[in-house]
Amino acid sequence: MDATTVNTKMSDDWAKSYVVSAHSGEEMIHPSETLVRLFKGDYVTGHRENLKGKSVLDVGFGEGNNTIFLASLGMQVAGVEIHQDICTQVASKMKRYNMMADLQVGSNQSLPFADNTFDYLVSWNVLHYEGTEAGVKAGIKEYARVLKPNGRLFLSSTGPTHKILLNSKTLGSHRYEIGRPNDFRQGQVHFFFDAPNYIELYFSPHFGDLQIGRIEDVMFREKLDWWLVTGLKK
Ligand SMILES: C[S@@+](CC[C@H](N)C(=O)[O-])C[C@H]1O[C@@H](n2cnc3c(N)ncnc32)[C@H](O)[C@@H]1O
Repeated sequence: MDATTVNTKMSDDWAKSYVVSAHSGEEMIHPSETLVRLFKGDYVTGHRENLKGKSVLDVGFGEGNNTIFLASLGMQVAGVEIHQDICTQVASKMKRYNMMADLQVGSNQSLPFADNTFDYLVSWNVLHYEGTEAGVKAGIKEYARVLKPNGRLFLSSTGPTHKILLNSKTLGSHRYEIGRPNDFRQGQVHFFFDAPNYIELYFSPHFGDLQIGRIEDVMFREKLDWWLVTGLKK
C-alpha cells in the first residue's frame, strides 16, 4: 500500500517537519482540546458511552497526539499517514507511553482497510490538503467506505478566516494557494469550505445526522478558525 494520491514532495516535507520538531524539542505532546471535548464532553449526545474497545481510525495523525489520546480512552486505534517515517516516529513515541496502534501509510483517498471496519473515524485538519473538489469528494467517500454503517465521523477542517490564509491567493471557490511567509506549505493549494451549506452538500451523500460546528479563537495576533463536522455513515 502506498500513498499514491499524495505527491512525494508533500509527504517528504511533512516527514521532515516532524523530524525537525522532534529534534529541536518543539514537538507537541498535547491532543487537540476540541477533540478531547468531543470525546469527553456531551456536545454530541449518545456517543461517548462505552468507548472502550471501539475501533477508531485517525487519518493524517501527524505527531500522534490525538492518536495517543484515543488510545488512552481504551479504544482500538489505527492511523494513516502519508510517509513511512511519520508512522515509524509515532509508533516509537506510542511505545514510550506503553501504547500500540496499527499505523500504516495511506491517505484521505486511499485508506488501507476493508469496507465497514471502524466505529469512529477522526480526520483532524487533514481533508483540506486535498486541494481540489474532486479530491475532497473522493476523500469523504473513502472515509465512509471504511466506517461501519452508523459509524461516526469527527472532522475538523480550516475555516475561511484562519491565519494560514494570510497572503494566500484565491484560485476559485474554496481553493487557496498558501502564501504565508516561512511556512513550508507555501505554494500548496488547499480546499477550505467557505460556508456551512457547502459542508452539508459534500458530506450528505455519505453521512446522515450531520452536525456542523465552528471554533473561532483570537489568540492575540492570530486568528484561528476551524469547521467541525460530525455525522453517521449512511
Ligand atoms: C495539520 S497536520 C494535522 C495532524 C494531526 N491530525 C493533528 O491534528 O495533530 C496535517 C497532517 O495531514 C497529513 N496529510 C497531508 N496530506 C494528506 C492526505 N492527502 N491524506 C492524509 N493525510 C495527509 C500531513 O502529513 C500532516 O501530518
